[in-house]
Amino acid sequence: MGGAQLSSRVRRSSVLEVVFCLWGLISLSYAARLSVSRQKLEVQKHLNRLNKPAVKSIESPDGDTIDCVDISHQPAFDHPFLRDHKIQTRPSYHPEGLFDENKVSAKPKERSNPITQLWHQNGRCPEGTVPIRRTKEDDVLRASSVKRYGRKRHRTAPQPRSAQPDLINQSGHQHAIAYVEGDKYYGAKATINVWEPKIQQPNEFSLSQLWILGGSFGEDLNSIEAGWQVSPDLYGDNNTRLFTYWTSDAYQATGCYNLLCSGFIQINSEIAMGASISPVSAFRNSQYDISILVWKDPREGHWWMQFGNDYVLGYWPSFLFSYLADSASMIEWGGEVVNSEDGGQHTSTQMGSGHFPEEGFGKSSYFRNIQVVDSSNNLKAPRGIGTFTEQSNCYDVQTGSNGDWGHYFYYGGPGGASNK
Ligand SMILES: *[C@@H]1O[C@H](CO)[C@@H](O)[C@H](O)[C@H]1NC(C)=O
Ligand SMILES: *[C@@H]1O[C@H](CO)[C@@H](O)[C@H](O)[C@H]1NC(C)=O
Repeated sequence: MGGAQLSSRVRRSSVLEVVFCLWGLISLSYAARLSVSRQKLEVQKHLNRLNKPAVKSIESPDGDTIDCVDISHQPAFDHPFLRDHKIQTRPSYHPEGLFDENKVSAKPKERSNPITQLWHQNGRCPEGTVPIRRTKEDDVLRASSVKRYGRKRHRTAPQPRSAQPDLINQSGHQHAIAYVEGDKYYGAKATINVWEPKIQQPNEFSLSQLWILGGSFGEDLNSIEAGWQVSPDLYGDNNTRLFTYWTSDAYQATGCYNLLCSGFIQINSEIAMGASISPVSAFRNSQYDISILVWKDPREGHWWMQFGNDYVLGYWPSFLFSYLADSASMIEWGGEVVNSEDGGQHTSTQMGSGHFPEEGFGKSSYFRNIQVVDSSNNLKAPRGIGTFTEQSNCYDVQTGSNGDWGHYFYYGGPGGASNK
């Protein structure tokens, strides 16, 4: 008897369990569906914020869509401090001496530099607009969260001679750079060899850039960065792309890549930030490089950026920054990669060309004619150049100087694929 009772109780409780279990599954899947649709909604809202109505759109061969957005509707003007901002259509000062009106006009003209952007093959943006790489749903979904999209996850400006060298290695960011410090700087320039380094893991990246830095590396670092990068996470492919970045709080709450938040004001109608650069250099073959100049306008205080000899892209308004509102205290040039292996292991993600500095021109990647803007607002050769790398058997740097290239360095390497 007792046995029968027990078994019926057992049966009843297992029926209940099944019911609870089903109910649990249904509510779980309901919750999951709800959270998926909530995420979709959040992504859509973010896309609507980022992508401004286009006057014209151009499909690039690499799959990008370039939107030509009315200059006064660009993302910068979402910033509360910029609502009433009057766009500066040109800098009031240019450190390369003679200020040539034609130089900063948005009109196309003959250029010696063969490097362009891939999307130019399919059209140009009209005057009065700025070209903006459209953010697609997949771009945002690849980010760890909607909020993190277009931002950096870690401090990535290398701190040479750091008091805590272990910190440098922790986040997997590795560098091979040249730098100057100990003075007030009002800008920097470099001509950067362009390659398409191989990235082993999609969550890694490889870039070559200059850093304009002010403040302390811990909490309040101000940084303006520009160069080229390969970042499957950010762009969904392995193409080499022109990029910029800025932050005024050591990569925490402020700043972003390109025009992915409000800040940078673009005036140029020909160059899109985040767009693919073409062509790129090939081993023992044709070499291509891009010039980047960033300087502070002594009158308005804004930080301007020029790409090549002809394209003044626009400016970061001075009020975005604390230290950089005055001047920079350090300039860095060089490469950075993310290595996703830990414990001394290393992926074979390449920096620069993937070849070491010793190999020289046509094989190793270079920065040439590196210069700084001094307190008299003149471009000049940097003094007391230091170099820094976390692991020279993976990525290295070697400086030199000559008449043609001024101060230069070769940098980079094959990462864990090295036999050094
Ligand atoms: C990027 O390159 C890696 C390795 O070189 C490859 O596995 C991956 O499929 C590439 N990604 C795309 C989107 O082409
Ligand atoms: C970074 O880690 C590597 C390998 O674990 C080590 O050889 C190197 O000395 C470290 N660099 C710094 C600056 O701590």
